[in-house]
Amino acid sequence: MKTQIRQLKEKKNAVILAHYYAPAEVQEIADYIGDSFYLAKVAKKCEADIIVFCGVSFMGESAKILNPDKKVLMPDLTADCPMAHMATREKIIEMRKKYDDLAVVCYINSTAELKCLSDVCVTSSNAVKIVKELPNKNIFFIPDRNLGAFVAEKIPEKNIIINDGCCPIHAELSAEQICNEKTQHPNALVLTHPECEPGVLAVSDFIGSTAEIIDYAKNSPCNEFIVCTENGVEYKLKSNNPNKRFYFPEPCPCCRDMKLNTLENIFSVLEKEDKEIIISEDIRRKALIPLDKMLELAKQ
Ligand code: 13P
Ligand code: SF4
Repeated sequence: MKTQIRQLKEKKNAVILAHYYAPAEVQEIADYIGDSFYLAKVAKKCEADIIVFCGVSFMGESAKILNPDKKVLMPDLTADCPMAHMATREKIIEMRKKYDDLAVVCYINSTAELKCLSDVCVTSSNAVKIVKELPNKNIFFIPDRNLGAFVAEKIPEKNIIINDGCCPIHAELSAEQICNEKTQHPNALVLTHPECEPGVLAVSDFIGSTAEIIDYAKNSPCNEFIVCTENGVEYKLKSNNPNKRFYFPEPCPCCRDMKLNTLENIFSVLEKEDKEIIISEDIRRKALIPLDKMLELAKQ
């Protein structure tokens, strides 16, 4: 199947982008693997005719918004991030009425419709930097309460109002589970994604995006790590560091939507060129504004 995918990819001038949470065999055949920020940048600059995005729908949508001339396909169009829907237009309108000096900051894990109502997008690897640089005193951070709280703690000079959404997978992890792992592996460092609850962040040694966690483990002199994020990162952690050990809390965090990306689905979508991301031009143009602003502010 891998050879067939490679042949078809070449024939059709397609590239495969995969998030670190995609299954290992999908990451193995991907042309680009990364966190959501890296993949958004790759998608924007991509010159291939077809982008096969092995992630969840907000990632495929962002690729289409940033590079509309490309055909963006998803191996399974039902792969969605539940958190992407956890903010409402009504709440955003209410906040805009309440605060005159307000920026709506939208975690990229959100629908295109929510992006349209926002001033700037962020990802877990650039949220602190971008919010710090905004001139506004008041920030409405959507949809993730945990990333919002993490940013608020780092930038106490701003009034950060937090929307009550969360990632069901990361929010499930508890400080108790992590402490339990710590007792079993006392020499391990705890590496955590900021989508986890504040109690989990409090017992962590390092907090960062998936790419930052992967970099940290590679550069650290430590040989053992407890990893508090989705288990797809294990593939890169292990291939980068064959002699280091990685432990995941039990039960192991797994995003079912990310696992809908399979070799069979990739082959099928490349062959049929169906399951295309379609966004109305009106929504695309509006959602492009906060995404482009993110790319611009993250560069500075
Ligand atoms: P990254 O920003 O690390 O890619 O995380 C995206 C995500 O979906 C985390 O659950
Ligand atoms: Fe969404 Fe959580 Fe899955 Fe990331 S891990 S895509 S935030 S549901």
